[in-house]
Amino acid sequence: MQRREAVRREAVGTYSCEQCGHPLSPEYKFCPACGTPRKGVSYVRRVSTGNQAIDEILEGGFESGKTYLLAGEAGTGKTIFSLQYLLYGAKNNEPGIYVTIDERPEMLVRDVRNFGWDLQPLVETRKLAILPVRRYFTSKMWGREMDAIVNNIIEELDKRRREIGAKRLVIDPIAPLVTTYSNEVAWVREYIRSLIFSIEEKLGVTTVITSEVPTGENMMSRYGVEEFLASGVIILSISRVGNSIIRTMFIRKMRWTAVNPIIYRFEIERGRGIVLKEPLS
Ligand SMILES: Nc1ncnc2c1ncn2[C@@H]1O[C@H](COP(=O)(O)OP(=O)(O)O)[C@@H](O)[C@H]1O
Ligand SMILES: [Mg+2]
Repeated sequence: MQRREAVRREAVGTYSCEQCGHPLSPEYKFCPACGTPRKGVSYVRRVSTGNQAIDEILEGGFESGKTYLLAGEAGTGKTIFSLQYLLYGAKNNEPGIYVTIDERPEMLVRDVRNFGWDLQPLVETRKLAILPVRRYFTSKMWGREMDAIVNNIIEELDKRRREIGAKRLVIDPIAPLVTTYSNEVAWVREYIRSLIFSIEEKLGVTTVITSEVPTGENMMSRYGVEEFLASGVIILSISRVGNSIIRTMFIRKMRWTAVNPIIYRFEIERGRGIVLKEPLS
């Protein structure tokens, strides 16, 4: 409980030394006044998910520069979660790139506005870049070698990254970046590995990839490899409990974070996005 409280205080920027009470900014590992190492907080830089309750569970958020997998069937909230992550960044000096299956960004902006979020000013002020996957990535690479395809994607992303100073990346979903090129399992797995490795190595952004899991199948990811490559996996579901349908979130795997495997109920609220509710025991 104490640890959770320390993490929470850190998340809101009011952490202080446990020994002498001196105020500590989040990047301090030792108290500048008395030299006491900070207790109960992780030393890795964390990136807010855009949702305070989820940040608390993750001891401050995603680990900077790593890749996270958001998996679930259609309609479970993957896009809303992803946009919430990017919106928070865009408004807090961490611009983001959104690679989307939507062919027309203006339609996406319109739909999202109906949900209560305005992406337009963020696009105009270059805090957010929306990249339709087909237009930017898939068309010109038919039949090429894996390395060439990965390099091409990385170059394109890097161009955008430099343009807007992106710190965050969302690929929602990863499928069109994969199936366009091959359906052969070994190829696909090696390709996804190479892509995630190159993103982490060359772009340094904190990445969320979404993976649409076929309805009714008990899988964590579409290609059966994403979960092993990601630093963390969040699974969104819709379940029937008694007579009602509820949304649930299962934080399945998080490297370097002592996350207890607990399923949380959540709701999707217009203008707020993912709203975490009670844990289901
Ligand atoms: N205005 C709204 N208020 C509440 N829920 C909404 C609203 N608009 C959409 N939703 C819910 O959000 C869900 C879609 O989430 P989305 O992130 O697009 O799912 P996914 O990307 O996993 O397919 C829909 O199932 C719908 O129930
Ligand atoms: Mg979606």
